[in-house]
Amino acid sequence: MTTTNGTTENGQTDRKPPGLPRPLPNLEIQHHQIFINNEWHQSVSGRKFPVYNPTTGNKICEVEEADKADVDKAVAAARAAFQRGSPWRQMDASGRGRLLHKLADLLERDRVVLATLESMDTGKPFLHSFLVDLEGCIRTLRYYAGWADKIQGRTVPVDDTFFCFTVHEPIGVCGAITPWNFPLLMVTWKMGPALCCGNTLVLKPAEQTPLTALYMGSLITEAGFPPGVVNIVPGYGPTAGAAISHHSDIDKVAFTGSTEVGKLIKEAASRSNLKRVTLELGGKNPCIVFADSDLELAVECVHQGVFFNQGQCCTAASRVFVEEQVYPEFVRRSVEHAKRRLVGDPFDPKTEQGPQIDQEQFDKIVELIQSGKEEGAKLECGGSPMAGRGLFIKPTVFSEVTDDMRIAKEEIFGPVQAILKFKSTEDVIKRANSTEYGLTAAVFTGSLDKALTVASALQSGTVWVNCYNALHVQAPFGGYKMSGNGRELGEYALTEYTEVKTVTIKLSQKKL
Ligand code: NAI
Ligand code: MG
Repeated sequence: MTTTNGTTENGQTDRKPPGLPRPLPNLEIQHHQIFINNEWHQSVSGRKFPVYNPTTGNKICEVEEADKADVDKAVAAARAAFQRGSPWRQMDASGRGRLLHKLADLLERDRVVLATLESMDTGKPFLHSFLVDLEGCIRTLRYYAGWADKIQGRTVPVDDTFFCFTVHEPIGVCGAITPWNFPLLMVTWKMGPALCCGNTLVLKPAEQTPLTALYMGSLITEAGFPPGVVNIVPGYGPTAGAAISHHSDIDKVAFTGSTEVGKLIKEAASRSNLKRVTLELGGKNPCIVFADSDLELAVECVHQGVFFNQGQCCTAASRVFVEEQVYPEFVRRSVEHAKRRLVGDPFDPKTEQGPQIDQEQFDKIVELIQSGKEEGAKLECGGSPMAGRGLFIKPTVFSEVTDDMRIAKEEIFGPVQAILKFKSTEDVIKRANSTEYGLTAAVFTGSLDKALTVASALQSGTVWVNCYNALHVQAPFGGYKMSGNGRELGEYALTEYTEVKTVTIKLSQKKL
């Protein structure tokens, strides 16, 4: 089965790279400045900020810190690149597709460099960066490259004294604010559709992980995108991020991150120019395991679903409901899996779990684990940081979790599995839906009828049946309720990056 962006469940890609890739030792950081108009800039304020390696706690480098003045410069460049008559606006639609394909080629060429950078910056295992993240990036760019010259309007039947048609036009200057859990992948999820539709972009990567996005700047130039089409402004959220969301000359903003900041972005949009907003936010994703499921498959998928990427996934399988007949066995096997999970150096090919991203996230997870213990969940394994190992946390499993506990309600974003028990289908549907989130859900059962009944009843943007994290670039992804607005990926994302213009022509009615 194909999972996240084309890897199979045992971690192989469909298109096998030759041999096992190896990270580059002592990689030098070349790109640490602000990228505007295909040039590297220092910050207007003269400030820089440090970027750390979460595995060692060591500083990797300092990056020029963008703030409002730098965002203004980037927006001016993006606006100029979007003007009528600019090289970008005059380009044949197929030309945009060729540039995106070229960019994908360059990502393939520099895949090891980018995967190494991503693992230095995030602490995620190098092989995950290489096989999952980079594969997803390349597929995303190629998929949207293919769409560039297929974005068509319609002729609309009205009364016969008019001729009416629609044109799907780019929105204009798009802002993108991205998180640290899949830094480059989230960039491509926004860049791909934005550019294939003919928009220009001002991108702010997360302050923890700006390095792959900045490297991408050099590839944007090399691919041949006209200056100003893509601009990258590394910096902090309340400064550079807020300058984007409040900017009156940005026409749309796409955000992935916390629900809390998602609300701020929408508020800023409404207080400034009502820019279009798409949000991909948190999740507290229910996973329902029926007694008639293939239990080993369910245990394995749910384990990967919750622990993948150090648990730092909006899709994390963070509420597992197991039918009572198989509950003890499911818990037993899940604990076995968690205890076997190899935690360690992200550059060791055997490692499955690296460190959490930073102290703030680490503290939040440790505090939530503590709340689980205090609120009466049964700690089956883990439950603490790894002594003397900085930001590493032991894979943790709680059983006997009930709906009112914080670990069953709040997004943990860490390696913590919460296993709940259920008795009836109706009951579990209600409980699964009783959350403010609605991003993903999963059902494990041998019954097609049960799978479809539950899938139709769940309030979530994605439902996986007998699989997990089965994301495909062709299929839309996004949330119901407070998990977000709009959809990324697939054809659906195109509507988030285009305005529809209706052109209505009065026919003269004269006899010709
Ligand atoms: P965050 O939402 O603060 O950060 C995400 C991005 O938003 C970063 O680029 C950040 O610089 C930017 N940002 C922060 N404040 C901003 C503001 N006022 N205006 C504009 N942009 C702003 O998320 P954070 O603090 O890194 O993590 C907090 C929690 O959010 C996590 O524990 C997790 O629960 C959730 N989260 C969800 C993600 C997802 O994939 N949906 C990704 C990252 C975090
Ligand atoms: Mg934050």
